[in-house]
Amino acid sequence: MNFNRRTHTCGELRESNVDERVILNGWVQRRRDLGNLIFIDLRDRYGITQVVFESTNETTSYELAKKLRSEFVISIEGKVRKRPDSNPNMPTGMIDVLADQLIILNEAQTPPFQIDDEVEANEDLKLKYRYLDLRRNSMKQNILLRHKMSQVTRNYFDSRDFVEIETPVLMKSTPEGARDFLVPSRIHAGKFYALPQSPQTYKQLLMVSGFDRYFQIVKCFRDEDFRADRQPEFTQIDVEMSFIDQEEIFEVVEGFMKKLFKDINNYELQTPIPRLTFADAMEKYGSDKPDLRYDLEMKTVNDIAKNSGFKVFKDTVDGNGIVTALVAKGCAEYSRNQIDQLTAHVKNLGAAGLIWMKLKSDGLNSPIIKFLSDEEKNAIVERVNAESGDLIFIIAGPKTKALTAMGGLRIEIAKRENLINPGATPSLLWVTDFPLFEWDDETKRFYAMHHPFTSPMLEDVELLDTKPGNVRARAYDLVLNGNEVAGGSIRIHNSDLQAKMFNALGISAEEANAKFGFLMNAFKFGAPPHGGIAFGFDRLVMLFAGESSIREVIAFPKTTSGFSLMDESPSIVSEEQLKELHIKNR
Ligand code: AMO
Repeated sequence: MNFNRRTHTCGELRESNVDERVILNGWVQRRRDLGNLIFIDLRDRYGITQVVFESTNETTSYELAKKLRSEFVISIEGKVRKRPDSNPNMPTGMIDVLADQLIILNEAQTPPFQIDDEVEANEDLKLKYRYLDLRRNSMKQNILLRHKMSQVTRNYFDSRDFVEIETPVLMKSTPEGARDFLVPSRIHAGKFYALPQSPQTYKQLLMVSGFDRYFQIVKCFRDEDFRADRQPEFTQIDVEMSFIDQEEIFEVVEGFMKKLFKDINNYELQTPIPRLTFADAMEKYGSDKPDLRYDLEMKTVNDIAKNSGFKVFKDTVDGNGIVTALVAKGCAEYSRNQIDQLTAHVKNLGAAGLIWMKLKSDGLNSPIIKFLSDEEKNAIVERVNAESGDLIFIIAGPKTKALTAMGGLRIEIAKRENLINPGATPSLLWVTDFPLFEWDDETKRFYAMHHPFTSPMLEDVELLDTKPGNVRARAYDLVLNGNEVAGGSIRIHNSDLQAKMFNALGISAEEANAKFGFLMNAFKFGAPPHGGIAFGFDRLVMLFAGESSIREVIAFPKTTSGFSLMDESPSIVSEEQLKELHIKNR
C-alpha cells in the first residue's frame, strides 16, 4: 500500500504549525460523527491529535472517514488550523488538522477492551492482549520510564568505569536459594543446563579475570512462588567490584540512587543513606525491610516482663523469647471486632495471640490487667510512650516469630490509620550485618541467608564450627519504602574459607566440588578481594512508577501462577521433541 511518510508525530503539532500541510499516521482512538463533521482522535506513541473531516471539504475522504472505527491504522493529510475551542488538557489541544486525504492502512477488529486509561478492564484479559494493553497511555509511560531508567543506569555505571559484560543464560545448575529452571540437552543425553538465578558465579569469575568493575542489566530466572513483587524471570542491575570494602560499594550505590532520583524525579536525594543492622531492624520494626516513612517503633519489654505474675510473659523470657510492644496512637476506641481482626492477622503471621491494653482517661483496660502489677503496667506505658487515648499491643513468643508478627501488625496499623503520606519523601535504608545462616525447622539444617559465597564477618569466623547461628555476614540490603530493592555482600575469596562455609552448610567436599569446583578452583589462581550487589530492576521501576505490582512495568509479564496468557506458555511440546531431548524414550 502506498502512503506518504509522516511529516510529524501525533504529539508534535502546536499553534506555530497553523496553516502548514502535514501528514500524520496513527491509530484511531475515537471517532465522533456530527453529521457534516467527523472528528477523529489520532493516536501514536507521542500523543493525540484531533483530525477533522468536513463533508463540504473533500467528499471522498469524508465518506471514507465514516468507515473508521477504533484502532484502525490510518494516514491522513491536511492543513493545521487553530482550534476555536482549544483543549488545555492536550499538548496539541490548540490545533486540529482539517484532513483532505485519508488512507486506511489497516482495519482493526473491535478490541476486547477499550484502549483508555479511564476504562478498567479485567487483568487476565489485558494480559492476553498485552500488545493492546501496551497502547494505553499509563502502560506506555511505564515502559518509557523503564527505558529511561536503564539509560540512566548504563550512563552512571559507564561514567564510574564499570564494564558491561554479558554472561551465559545456559549454565550449570548450582541452586542458590530458589529452584532452578532446567533446560534438557539434546546433544548430551540425560544432562541439563540451568537458567541463571543470577550471574553470581560468573561475576565473581570476572573479578578473578581482573575486570575489577563489572555491571550488567540482566535477566534472572527463579522457579519460586510468585507475589506482586516477584516474577519467574526478572531483571537485575548486577554489580561486582574488586579491591573494595563495604563502604566503597555503598558509595557507588548511593551515587547511583542520587542520580536516578535526580534524573527521573528531579529530586535531590540526601546521602549518606541511613543504616540499621538486621538485629535492630527486626527488634524495632519486625522486618528486614522496614518502611520508615512512618515511625511506629516496636519496644522490647523483656526486662519488665521477666518477673511478671503473668505466666505468658515470664515463661517467654525464661525460654529465651521476646515480649515486644507497639503503641497505636489514638486507637483506644478500636472495637472488639477490629481487635479480633488484628488478632487473626498476627496469628496468621505466626503469633500465638495478641495482647491489648487500652489507655483511657479512667485508666488501663486490658484482658490481662489483673495479672500485672501497677509497676509493670506503668513501666510498659512509659516504655512505649503511651498517652490517654492510645492502644498498646503486646506479642510474646519465640524471637523471630514474635517480631515478624508484630512487624506485620505495624504495617497493618499504618495502613488502617493512613500513616503513609502520599507526598512523603522516599525512605531509603541500608540494612546491614545480616546473619550468615538461616535455620530451617523442616529440614533441620542451616541455609545461607544470602548465598554460600557471602563472607562471614572476620571476627565471627571462629563461630562457624561452634555457633553457626550467631555468625554475622558481610551482607547488606537496600530498602526503598519498605521494599527490598537490592542485596549484596562481600564475598569469600579464599578457597579454604569457602570450604569451611560449605562444611557449615552441610555440603560435603564432594558435593561442593561437583557443584562449585570451577569457582573454588578459580580462587586458587589469584582471586582479588571482591564484593557486589544486585538491584531488582523491575522493583525499582515499579516504585518510581508508583505501581504496586512489577507486572505493570514489564512489557510481557507472567501471571502469578507463572503462565503467559498471551502466548500460552508453558505449553505442551511434541513427542518428537521430548524424544530428541531424551525425556521420553519411545
Ligand atoms: P538477591 O537474590 O537478593 O541477590 O536478588 C537481588 C534483588 O533482585 C530482586 N529480586 C526479584 N525481583 C523480582 N522477582 C524475583 N523473583 C526476584 N528475586 C529477587 C530483589 C533483590 O533485592 N546474586 C545476588 C546479588 C549479590 O550478592 O550481588 C542476588 O541475586 O530486589
